[in-house]
Amino acid sequence: MTSVALGADHAGWELKEALKAWLIDQDHQVLDFGTHSPDPVDYPDYAAQVAEAVAVAKVERGILVCGTGIGMAITANKVPGVRAAACSDLYTARMSREHNDANVLALGGRLMGREMALEIAKAWIETGFAGGRHSGRVDKISAVERRHTDRAASDP
Ligand code: RB5
Repeated sequence: MTSVALGADHAGWELKEALKAWLIDQDHQVLDFGTHSPDPVDYPDYAAQVAEAVAVAKVERGILVCGTGIGMAITANKVPGVRAAACSDLYTARMSREHNDANVLALGGRLMGREMALEIAKAWIETGFAGGRHSGRVDKISAVERRHTDRAASDP
C-alpha cells in the first residue's frame, strides 16, 4: 500500500479521476487535492499542494496531471525534496523510479489515453529505487538544491 496525493488542472482532471479509482481499487491510500471539474484552473496551484504534501511526508508519492505534465513537473520541482518526472511511456516511468527515485509523477492528459496512463502509473508505483551507484547521483541532486536554498536563505 502506498499513500499517493493527486492533483490535476482542467486538462487533467478526467484522467486524475480514473487514476484515483484505480489507486483505490488497488488498496492505495489517496489524498485528492482536486480539481474536480473541467472549469479552467491554474496548474501551479495543484502542483504546489501535491509537492508540499510529498515534501513534508504527509504522503509517500504524488501524481499530477495537466495537459502535458510539463507545467506540473516544473512547478513540483521547485519544492525542496521533490523529484518530479514527466513521463509519457513505460520506460521513462520505470527509469524515473529506478535511477532517479522520483517521488512525483507528472502525466499529460492530452498526450495519452486512460489505459496507457494507468499502465504508466502502475509501473511507476510498483518500481523501486535501485540504489547503488544511483544513490550518489540522487544525493548530488539534493546537494544542488541545498546550495540554492542556502543561498536564498542568506540573501539580505
Ligand atoms: C492548460 O491549457 C495547459 O497549459 C496545462 O494543462 C499544462 O499542459 C501545462 O503545462
